[in-house]
Amino acid sequence: MEMSKRIEGALERAVLHATATGRPKKVSDALRYAIFPGGARVRPRLCLAVAASCGDSHPRAADAAAAAMEMLHCASLVHDDLPCFDDADLRRGKPTVHAAYSEPLAVLVGDALIILAFETIARECALTPQLIAPLIGTVGKAVGMPHGLIAGQAWESETGDIPLAEYHRAKTASLFTGACIAGAVAADADPNQWHGVGDALGAAYQVADDLRDFAGSQEELGKPCGQDAMNQRPNAVHENGLDATLANLKGLVGDAVAAIPECPGAPMLRKLIEGEATRLVPKELAQSAA
Ligand code: IPE
Ligand code: IPE
Ligand code: MG
Ligand code: MG
Repeated sequence: MEMSKRIEGALERAVLHATATGRPKKVSDALRYAIFPGGARVRPRLCLAVAASCGDSHPRAADAAAAAMEMLHCASLVHDDLPCFDDADLRRGKPTVHAAYSEPLAVLVGDALIILAFETIARECALTPQLIAPLIGTVGKAVGMPHGLIAGQAWESETGDIPLAEYHRAKTASLFTGACIAGAVAADADPNQWHGVGDALGAAYQVADDLRDFAGSQEELGKPCGQDAMNQRPNAVHENGLDATLANLKGLVGDAVAAIPECPGAPMLRKLIEGEATRLVPKELAQSAA
């Protein structure tokens, strides 16, 4: 089945489960609003691409892992947009969850999605119970302390110099690494081989997001730009300048491609990574990045 159909189907099943009664109504509606329509779905695509490269022996587990990573990502965006974090009112071209539904509901939707991610793995892996513990462990590590997304967001509450690469790796690359490893685990493959791909691609992804925050437009991105300067967040362009950031991005994309282990899916993964690298650089900067 086509990858995007698998991803949307797995997310739909999970959301249906959580909103089966439609009650309470507002939180049920807001939960669906936070997931559909999606953005680029890059983390679940990566998860399924790695699973496919490794033989995809347990597709239902791979789908559950992919959906879990995307739900955790969506939860992180709902919380990231709250007034106590980045205070953003637009996401994926529509009002953020707290703008559309209220702050208490946005907090609850984020919490519900985090829990639903783990619950989905437990439920969908009923026929592959040996995968439940490693998948939950992988996903938990990607979002939790001390190296996951929560640590990344927490760096913003520190004073003094924030280590940019560590901050980027925790807040963004951790989910990419988790997606790759979960894809390998769901296919009974050795996950250690996949760490480098996720780490380099995730780091590249956040550098590209910093570039877009600096030089993109709200129309192009469907979310506000210039947020990092406004909120005094560490940003690769502010710290290292445009040329060095473009060079760093190119280097990280190269590292991600070079880290792909030998496997039948290698050309497809290379295409996915190079496609993302092109998509993410603001058009007017693409020439200098070439
Ligand atoms: C945005 O992620 C937040 C970052 C970590 C850079 P995406 O750019 O993947 O957002 P969506 O899912 O496509 O909206
Ligand atoms: C978001 O980082 C990363 C998360 C862990 C949510 P940013 O705050 O830089 O991402 P955008 O620009 O709001 O998507
Ligand atoms: Mg943020
Ligand atoms: Mg933000």
